[in-house]
Amino acid sequence: MSAEPLEIHLEEQDLARGLRDDVRAGLTADPKWLPPKWFYDARGSELFEEITRLPEYYPTRAERAVLAAQAPAIADLTRAKTLIELGSGSSEKTRLLLDAFSRRGGLGTFVPLDVSASALRASTAQIAADYPGLRVRGIVGDFTRHLDRLPTGGRRLVLFLGGTIGNLLPAERAAFLTSMRAALESGDWLLVGTDLVKDPSVVVPAYDDAAGVTAEFNRNVLRVVNRELGADFDPEAFTHVARWDAEHEWIEMRLRADRRMSIRVPDLGLDVSFDAGEELRTEISAKFRPEGAAAELGAAGFTVEMFWTDPERLFGVTLARAC
Ligand code: AVJ
Repeated sequence: MSAEPLEIHLEEQDLARGLRDDVRAGLTADPKWLPPKWFYDARGSELFEEITRLPEYYPTRAERAVLAAQAPAIADLTRAKTLIELGSGSSEKTRLLLDAFSRRGGLGTFVPLDVSASALRASTAQIAADYPGLRVRGIVGDFTRHLDRLPTGGRRLVLFLGGTIGNLLPAERAAFLTSMRAALESGDWLLVGTDLVKDPSVVVPAYDDAAGVTAEFNRNVLRVVNRELGADFDPEAFTHVARWDAEHEWIEMRLRADRRMSIRVPDLGLDVSFDAGEELRTEISAKFRPEGAAAELGAAGFTVEMFWTDPERLFGVTLARAC
């Protein structure tokens, strides 16, 4: 079957307004911040794909190892009719699950949801071509806002992979899981990938690689703000910083101004100044303990049915059920 036309719940102007609101809020705050979702324009998505192939960046390989080993068990346990993927991007690891479901039979529909219409158009066409008989319905939407637009009926399995849940602050995570639970019926399933707490000597290089790809990825958010809002950031005047926050057990990515700077953001009528050495927070990437992830899921109305890791215990995949 060919992919169905995309269902659009997020128009270009909603995205543009979201960026303006975030940039205004983040650059006028103290300390300054920008949310990580704005890394992913075409160039940023390419840089992220490059990151996943770096020797230091273990999460993608470790999660793929878990899914490769457990996909048949996930298909057998859930017997899902509809597979929904949040923040699907290229849906590359999802194929491991689609393969297991197609061997087992019974899966009718695949529903990837992403903010990027162009990424979705490419991935839905490819998946529809490779899985004949599967209905493919891409949804352009934001997983923090459009969970009420997910298709209903049948037994559903929602995938939230890659450790993306770790990019949300704890309060945002709780709100996300609660609205996720509200969007599901009891008995529906949620499969979440979480990077695990481990020695900082392993985590930090994953976010500060020797080839400097993550540094370019980090600076890309400034290029996005320049292009979309007419700002005049000099990305080369910012140094990439990746710091392990031992108290919160998360990695914090920042951009440190190498000198004093005045930045104009004409589309917002905004002028912001950076002191020499001042840091702008661009991402947190939380690392989890299995019991912490289970507690957060429990508080939102899920019960954990399975927890798997790779042999090196780098990355966790939790299968939870709406109760
Ligand atoms: C795919 C969002 C989970 O936090 O590890 C990679 C993004 N940031 N290198 C992560 C990312 C820096 C990644 N997520």
